[in-house]
Amino acid sequence: MNVVLSVAEMKEIAAKLRRAGETVALVPTMGALHEGHLALVREAARTSSRVVVSVFVNPTQFGPAEDFARYPRDIEGDLRKLGALKVDHVFAPDAASMYPPGGSETRVDLTRLPGHLCGLSRPHHFPGVATVVLKLFNICRPDAAVFGLKDYQQVRVIERMVADLDVPVRIVRHPTVREPDGLAMSSRNRYLSAEDRAKAPVIFATLKHLADAIARGERDAARLIELARGRISDAGGSVEYLAVADPDTLDDVAVADRPVLIAAAVRFGGTRLIDNVVAGG
Ligand code: PAF
Repeated sequence: MNVVLSVAEMKEIAAKLRRAGETVALVPTMGALHEGHLALVREAARTSSRVVVSVFVNPTQFGPAEDFARYPRDIEGDLRKLGALKVDHVFAPDAASMYPPGGSETRVDLTRLPGHLCGLSRPHHFPGVATVVLKLFNICRPDAAVFGLKDYQQVRVIERMVADLDVPVRIVRHPTVREPDGLAMSSRNRYLSAEDRAKAPVIFATLKHLADAIARGERDAARLIELARGRISDAGGSVEYLAVADPDTLDDVAVADRPVLIAAAVRFGGTRLIDNVVAGG
């Protein structure tokens, strides 16, 4: 497994792989890898002859009051985990190489998708994500890129960016990987105190409860959201949003008479967790 630190070297490798007729799958990550990321890497290895994993904590997708400085970084642990899998190149640039001093004038923004769910409280987030992902695509030139559905809105933003800008990359969706008690795996789970960790599975349990209610015939989104708020608050979680939304546009849905995305952001202590399920239809 080759570790690549510079953008220029990664571009050269990408060009060579193309000339050699290899197919490349990229797994973009911010490191602090857990089993959820490793599942994306295994999926990447199934889709392509070469696998590139990027590890870059992207400063531009964090707001000023967010956790960029304390975001977990463990490149040695990451390389150990990736070394046990079929990974050809780990692209781990530093911030100065991705964003050369002097700054960048260009950013990728979407008009509607970021105006929902996480984008409401994190206005910097999706322009930062879309811009860095497009840069990673241009540097690594993958045929496919694999993303986890825990970050459902991120997946939709990237799918839409790729469609709108004719980016020649196939986006592969991977189901959310969960702990045995249902909590969605996330690098931020390590921020949770033992007490909050024990409470956090209520998020997925509640989302499943709503999906079951829809399967039993409940259609009123406002009633579903009220039901969920109560369960999560009773368990000690502070709800940032709970939404019943169209799975493509992420617009709110009032009547769940077709497949809907049920998505939540909930804080336990200072830790913000997100999760979602698609239900109905
Ligand atoms: O999902 C993440 O880890 C990040 O948002 C991504 C896609 C690697 C972009 O920095």
